[in-house]
Amino acid sequence: MTRTDPLDVPRPDARLHLGVFFQGVNHWTVWSDPASGSQIDPANFRRVAQTAERGLFDAFFLGEGLRLREVDGQIHDLDVAGRPDAITQLAALAAVTERIGLVSTSNTTFNEPADLARRLSGLDLLSEGRAGWNVVTTDNAWTGANFRRGGYLDHADRYRRAEEFLTVARAIWDSWEDAAVSGAADAPAWAAPGVVRQVRHQGPQFDVDLAPTLPRSTQGHPVIFQAGDSGEGRDFAARNADVIFSAHGNDFDDALAFADDLRRRLWAAGRPEDDLRILPGTEIIIGATEEEALEKKRWIRLQQVTPATALGIAGLLWGIDLSGRDADGPLPKEDPVVAENDGSFGARRIADPRQVVAEWREKADANRWSLRETVIALGPQRGHVGTPAGLADKFAHFVWHDAVDGFNVTPYLIPDGLDDIVDLLVPALQERGVYRTGYTGATLRAHLDLREPLTHRTTTDRRRTG
Ligand SMILES: Cc1cc2nc3c(=O)[nH]c(=O)nc-3n(C[C@H](O)[C@H](O)[C@H](O)COP(=O)(O)O)c2cc1C
Repeated sequence: MTRTDPLDVPRPDARLHLGVFFQGVNHWTVWSDPASGSQIDPANFRRVAQTAERGLFDAFFLGEGLRLREVDGQIHDLDVAGRPDAITQLAALAAVTERIGLVSTSNTTFNEPADLARRLSGLDLLSEGRAGWNVVTTDNAWTGANFRRGGYLDHADRYRRAEEFLTVARAIWDSWEDAAVSGAADAPAWAAPGVVRQVRHQGPQFDVDLAPTLPRSTQGHPVIFQAGDSGEGRDFAARNADVIFSAHGNDFDDALAFADDLRRRLWAAGRPEDDLRILPGTEIIIGATEEEALEKKRWIRLQQVTPATALGIAGLLWGIDLSGRDADGPLPKEDPVVAENDGSFGARRIADPRQVVAEWREKADANRWSLRETVIALGPQRGHVGTPAGLADKFAHFVWHDAVDGFNVTPYLIPDGLDDIVDLLVPALQERGVYRTGYTGATLRAHLDLREPLTHRTTTDRRRTG
């Protein structure tokens, strides 16, 4: 469904929110261009965060990868590696930025709430209310092996643990009254007696008894993000999250269907339908003309999908080691091998490889594509391509018609990949009135126009739709 009637714009006052997702383990970040810099150098983290802040972004966002991906016992050759611990990195960035939100992806499967809640609180206090937590349950057996807990919890139990984790984290964050510390030099006590509540929790996952050490931040507690696409993941977000980081932002109809699904789940969870911000991850490629943008996209795809990368991606689909084959030749003749455990850890799993390979063969034959051309054309698709004006019109349409609240942008080049977005796209968005012209708040919660944290509301507030 595309709602194009300009008289029927459901949200004419809505504003686009932008985040930047600094990826660390992937093949989408071009490393072979002379302009590409280190993925690890702290100066590059600073550069990206400060550019995003210049562009009035809501947030700088980091994923979590606790080990390098593997295929058949080998380090996955597609990866550009280098992710220092997110909270540590964001704490450093808090010191060199003023307004931008700082979001850490941290899993609930292998952490403990008393420790993680405290570390996230620390980031929230140091950044003066700019912290966010992207709650993920993470790939289990593969990441779990780090902790001698491979295969520790099945999918549903991971979400049960995440829910209980968040309950405990919130109790910790809410244990101090707002004005717990008097701050006055002549006060009778540093903190009034009884203002810090003991947190006692006993449940299937956690047994906690502690007096938390940190007060609330200016935004109450870190903003809760969630990234997980299953039904359980979406329900978890509908019950708990302020923002969902989705993979549904390339196509308008797909984005709208996802947003409508989320709104139904929010309503069922007793929350207003506009209580959750939807920010899909996306790549944005900008050119002065449409042709130039498409030409740039072709160049970027060739840089991203090198011959070795094409063989790696196709190898995951076929379930066979294709290294040493000719990526510029035809598709492999073999049928794909479908195995219960395909030996790939952390790499993409494909639901029905036989069907996908059949589709690839048909299209490659029809277009006379090589294997590499096929991977580029039919492999994972991402992003938006166009002129600043064309993209601004398109994004305004997405936002005003309720399909997304914004995008979490993944630059294809580090450290300068955000520059043309900030210098060219942001002004075009501002001209259309769909993007802020200055920060109006100081906290991440304020940038995202969020209500107070869920636990700070009354039952009636939770139902309110205004
Ligand atoms: C857009 C997106 C980004 C994600 N980023 C991460 C990440 O950085 N680290 C991680 O461990 N998991 C990440 N995940 C996966 C989560 O671990 C998620 O909990 C996992 O996919 C299982 O949930 P699901 O079956 O609901 O998708 C991401 C998922 C999505 C959809």
